[in-house]
Amino acid sequence: MNEIYADHAATSYPRPPQVVQAMIEYLRDIGCNPGRGGYRRSINAARMVYETRALLADFFHVPQPEQIIFTPSVTYSLNLVLKGLLAAGDHVLISSMEHNAVVRPLARLAAERGIEVERIPCNADGTMNPLQVRQALKRNTRLVVLTHASNVTGTILPVYEVGEILAKTDTLYCVDVAQTAGTEKVDFQDLQCDYLAFTGHKGLLGPPGIGGLCLSERALYVTQSLVEGGTGSRSEDENQPQFLPDKFESGTQNTPGIAGLAAGVKVITQTGLAAVKEQKRNLTAAFLAGLSGLPAIRVYGTKDPDLTTATISINMDGIDNGDLSFMLEQGYGIMTRSGLHCAPLAHQTIGTFPFGTLRFSFGWENTAAEVEMIIQALREIIKEHK
Ligand code: ALA
Repeated sequence: MNEIYADHAATSYPRPPQVVQAMIEYLRDIGCNPGRGGYRRSINAARMVYETRALLADFFHVPQPEQIIFTPSVTYSLNLVLKGLLAAGDHVLISSMEHNAVVRPLARLAAERGIEVERIPCNADGTMNPLQVRQALKRNTRLVVLTHASNVTGTILPVYEVGEILAKTDTLYCVDVAQTAGTEKVDFQDLQCDYLAFTGHKGLLGPPGIGGLCLSERALYVTQSLVEGGTGSRSEDENQPQFLPDKFESGTQNTPGIAGLAAGVKVITQTGLAAVKEQKRNLTAAFLAGLSGLPAIRVYGTKDPDLTTATISINMDGIDNGDLSFMLEQGYGIMTRSGLHCAPLAHQTIGTFPFGTLRFSFGWENTAAEVEMIIQALREIIKEHK
């Protein structure tokens, strides 16, 4: 049985051969610790890390490469922003489509530091009116956190419009681009944000274990580090360096991950962001069209391929979404993710809490023929369960 991987919102698979090759070559041909030695291999490792920072700065339109720090994941980046910035008495605004990577650290901070968290209610299709942010701002609103697109419905939030609103205020702004980097336009300067939290292993096609955060100049000064330690710089000082990127990058880096991420970003830039987006948009449009012809299927989100990423959630009448996911894999080799997708708040918003949905998400290797096979598989399952 052929396999069809339709869980790219969880992680990209397979990885482009260039990514695998870059990691092998790094481990085999360089392999040493950057910034820790004066010998050739260590210098080459530092050069690779710097070049990847510069590549990402270009890709996300960040003024200086040093404004990008590497982290193990977007979850880590978001924790750094929230725990490094917020203090007692602060008010934080989030959307009601946020992931647990935002909701859980904030729950802890609300309990331990007494910060106030307010959720902007999105519509049942996940959309949000940016003016709601303006209306919800308070004198003590320290931070607004928004996901660029929901990991449940793919719905794209108005992050640029909110950036425009916040630019006229003192409130800091964090955008989570876990689901959009490598597909949608992600422009740090046009977003007018202070923090851009990204992961390397989804649309950017890199390996798991590498992510990052872009910081504005004012964010650098007001954000405390989560972890302190060796940076290879100012070693005589017992205090953490306060300059970028060292303030936030202690300990040995995931250099094979950084090398793989650089190769993934190069695949995207060589293909062209517009072409990547077009390919995923076409798959989404074909899938939505196919689903609309099936009885017993309920589709969530905007159902508009121009307002969503290639992530579509459904439920089928009379079948638990976990069972449906199992049937699709057992009978047809189709891999999907069922349940709450670590985003119970988003499921409350779209009316699918606590049972969740079955999620399909497409990526660089999926084809129109695969989309048709998935529709055919769903058609057969509906027939068998009539
Ligand atoms: N947050 C990832 C997902 O949506 C893992 O599956």
